[in-house]
Parts: sequence; C-alpha cells; structure tokens
Amino acid sequence: MKEKLHIKGNVYYVGVNDRNKTLFEGMWPLPYGVSYNSYLIDDQDMVALIDTVDVCYFEIYLRKIKSIIGDRPVNYLIINHMEPDHSGSIRLIRQHYPGVIIVGNKQTFGMVEGFYGVTGDQYLVKEGDYLSLGKHKLRFYMTPMVHWPETMMTYDETDGILFSGDGFGCFGTLDGGFMDCCINLDRYWDEMVRYYSNIVGKYGNPVQKALEKLSGIELSVICSTHGPVWTENINRVVETYDKLSHYQAEEGVVIAYGTMYGNTEQMAEAIAAEISAQGIKNIVLHNLSKSDASYILADIFKYKGLIVGCPTYNNQVFPDMEMLLSKILGREIKGRYLGYFGSFCWVGAAVKRMGEFVEKSKFELASDPVEMKRAMSDRTYQLCEKLGADMAERLKKDRI
Ligand code: FEO
Repeated sequence: MKEKLHIKGNVYYVGVNDRNKTLFEGMWPLPYGVSYNSYLIDDQDMVALIDTVDVCYFEIYLRKIKSIIGDRPVNYLIINHMEPDHSGSIRLIRQHYPGVIIVGNKQTFGMVEGFYGVTGDQYLVKEGDYLSLGKHKLRFYMTPMVHWPETMMTYDETDGILFSGDGFGCFGTLDGGFMDCCINLDRYWDEMVRYYSNIVGKYGNPVQKALEKLSGIELSVICSTHGPVWTENINRVVETYDKLSHYQAEEGVVIAYGTMYGNTEQMAEAIAAEISAQGIKNIVLHNLSKSDASYILADIFKYKGLIVGCPTYNNQVFPDMEMLLSKILGREIKGRYLGYFGSFCWVGAAVKRMGEFVEKSKFELASDPVEMKRAMSDRTYQLCEKLGADMAERLKKDRI
C-alpha cells in the first residue's frame, strides 16, 4: 500500500473518501462524495501528520498511517484547520500516539480542547515560524478565515509542498488515484467552483490575503484537505481561487425563480428568450423548487448577470427565494448586474421584498423590476422582454 500513497520525497497521502454523506455541513449535496485529505511526512528523525480525517473513517486512516511507518510513533500532529471533517480524529490519534505533540496557533488549542477535550503536549506557532523534522523544514503561514479563524497553511520548504487546508479544495472523492496527474479531472473543476461558492464564498478578502502571502513561494505540489493533490494544474487551481475570491465572473445570466403554477415561470422564460435573442449564450434557469441552492450559488459565482423572480406567498416573498437571497447576501458577492420580477394574485409583496434585497446587495440594477398580476398578459410579456434586453445590453457593454 505504501507505494500507492506516495506523493513526493518522504511525503504520503493518508486521506479517505466519504461516499456516504448526503449533505456536507448538513446543507450542501455531495453527488460525487468528498475526500478528507490528511498527509504524512516520514522524515529521517521525526514523523509528522498534517490534519486528520472525519472520525467515522479512523480505522481506515490508521491502517494507512501504519502501512507507512509501521509501529513507529507519530511525533507531530500539525493542525491547519479545526473543522471536524479534518479534526475529527485528533482524540483517537492522541490515544494511539500518546507522545504526539499537537502543532497549532493560538486559536487552535482552545478548539482542540473544546471539541475533543484534548490538552497536553503542544507546539505553538505563529506567522513565519518553522519546525524542522530533520530533512524537512516546515514554515507556517497564518491564513485566518480560509475558512475558520484558526486556519493556517504549512509549507514544506524542502520539497516545495504546500499543505493548504481548505484552500484550493473541491468536492468529489478520489477514485483510485489521488494526484491530478493520474486521474480524469473533468468533474472536479465545476465541483471546485461549487465548493468555493458554498463553503469559502464569504471569505473573498481573506483568500486574497492568503494568495498574496503565498505569491512569493515556489509551489511544486498543493495538498489541500479536499480533492486531488495538485501538481500539474497548480496555475489553473490558483487562478480559479484568485478569480472566485475577486468575485470575477463571465458573461452570462442566472435566472433563479420560484413558481407555484407556472405563471411566474413564464416570466422567466420570456426574459431568458430575450436575453438569448440579444446574443448572450450563457443563460441558466433555476427553478427554486427543484434546483438546490448549492448549484445556484455556484452559477452566481460563475456569471455576471443575476435575475431573481417569484410569486408573493402569504404576503411575503416566496419562501425558497427568501432562503436563496439570504445565502447570496451571506456571501457578500460583489459586482453583479441584477434584475428582478414577481407576481401576485390579490396583493403584491414579492417585488417589494426583493427590492429590499437589491438595496442590501449593492448590485447594479440593470432594469426596472416587473410585477405581474395573476397571469401573463401582452403588457407583462413586453416588460419582461425589456428586462431581458436591458440585462443583455448591460452585459455587452463589458465586451468593449
Ligand atoms: Fe473541510 Fe472548513 O473544513
């Protein structure tokens, strides 16, 4: 097994795959599963583990560790990130390796004790500190809020390997191989956008700061806590995170709508048809009753135009729309062009409420909202066409 886990030099992959969990963080669908990546450095003098795995997979994890170091002890457990998908096995690692020294920053140890009741041998690091394992010299970079406050990254100066925590991660299990050079990467690129937008999306500025900090470092391998180990695609991966954290987007429109009996959906269709007629190719319609917010958010991170629409429900905005708008605001997405529309039967509320969202979002309004009473009329159709045309025009101005 040992050879199959080898990454480079004395560094090994000891992560696991989770094909059982339905919703990551209890919210985000995992159609391709997720990997919890942990790494082991088997140096001349010392053995270091970097992060652990979800506790459900501890037996498999331990077997992998032992296949590399046999009955020798683990000397250091470096904790880059404390979210339980990575920290879940800390207590059991300490039980199996009682002498292990836990390496973290001043934010880490309170979480280790709070989640797992683990105290004892600790090695406190701060920005720029380093730890020598013998051959390998590890340097620590504090990267708070990528994705929790204690988050840090560990850089192996000896081999140019960055252990990046959630940074550069993506959804999807690692089926067979785990290195990008050895697997078909097709499904991971979209899953990277979805992972970023769902999990890290709020923290654009912290990600930018981390990227700046890492910009002078030579990277030969990126070892994230989720998804492939990156060797041949480092530039693309870094560029993807750079673009997403800047909220940069392509030309295109996401139309997310709620509908109960199909009338409001007809507004969405009319708007989309006009946008298409104006020469915009990337148009994605999401029916909120069917599309999970996870995918809608990923598309909103991808495209520059956003149009939301829904019926009035109980004198409020349609409930699924309420949830979506809250998720959009929670991510502090910037620089989108916005349109909105809504409907009602006897008293209108949806358009008014979505107007409040527009103010909070600080998005640029591309056109006036359209409000429909009961069902589509010629007049409503024309207004929807105008909304679509205005959005297309606003997008096309950016081509110049
Ligand atoms: Fe994969 Fe923020 O934990």
